[in-house]
Amino acid sequence: MKGIILAGGRASRLYPITRGVCKQMLPVYDKPMIYYPLSVLMLAGIREILIISTPKDTPRFKDTLGKGEDLGIKLNYAVQPEPRGIAQSLVIGERFIGDDSVCLILGDNILYGDKLAQIVQEAASLKEGAVIFGYYVKSPSMYGVIELDKQYRVISIEEKPLRPKSNWAICGIYFYDNKASSIARMIKPSARGELEITDVNKIYLKQGQLNVKLLSRGYAWLDAGTYDSLIDASIFIRTIEQRQGLKIGCIEEVAYRMGYINRSQLRRLSRKINTSYGEYLESIVNE
Ligand code: DAU
Repeated sequence: MKGIILAGGRASRLYPITRGVCKQMLPVYDKPMIYYPLSVLMLAGIREILIISTPKDTPRFKDTLGKGEDLGIKLNYAVQPEPRGIAQSLVIGERFIGDDSVCLILGDNILYGDKLAQIVQEAASLKEGAVIFGYYVKSPSMYGVIELDKQYRVISIEEKPLRPKSNWAICGIYFYDNKASSIARMIKPSARGELEITDVNKIYLKQGQLNVKLLSRGYAWLDAGTYDSLIDASIFIRTIEQRQGLKIGCIEEVAYRMGYINRSQLRRLSRKINTSYGEYLESIVNE
């Protein structure tokens, strides 16, 4: 399976912070926001990843993350000229996906919880259809919302409904078989002029191929798109990291624990970072 991180958009809800810096590069406590979705793809066992961003920001991601060889993965880059919808990333990434299946994750989504690696690895093993994730939230109308029957099967999904049929929001991580790009090509822009990922999911649903996994209460799913959610995410990460002394979304640690790099490669990475982050990596080398 290939991975796509969509890290573009205008982030106008964060103005003026994001006038000169792109949102997915902003810090969430001790690391750039994009580390979190990148670490989730790596935990899923995905090592070939396409990062899609704006014409202005794509070179910055290249500078920051490079080709990925330090992490034992392969990073590729593509530009989305205008933010014409999340589903457009599947069209932009069509050649990159090739004959493979794909996991699309939004660059501002933070997922954390017990057995997350196992859950995303299971989803990544899909042969046919799609897997999406639902998360119970207080205010679902700002998200895609899933309507479920008593057996927790999907009845419908709606994008930002005024009257949501449930509290189950759709998280910004989607696993698809090889049909995703051709489905994304078929859909028409919505009233807001975007190719909606929810419309792609609706087609999988119509074909009886949309599987939903509901994340239970112990999980955290945060998006960091407003002043408050940005600082909330930082405080959440700091709280857990300081309490446990273990980091969340640490791509170098994930690369090592997944066996993508060896101990001496991790040591080399740790020596490049002259902060407590580097010391943390050093402590893993010495485990
Ligand atoms: O976060 C989960 C939600 O993400 C889902 O529940 C919704 O179904 C889905 O439509 C999406 O809703 P948002 O309103 O959060 O989407 P937004 O337009 O804010 O875009 C999400 C991220 O993707 C954001 O960081 C910017 C980036 N993006 C967005 C668009 C539309 C792009 O890079 N390019 C785009 O064209």
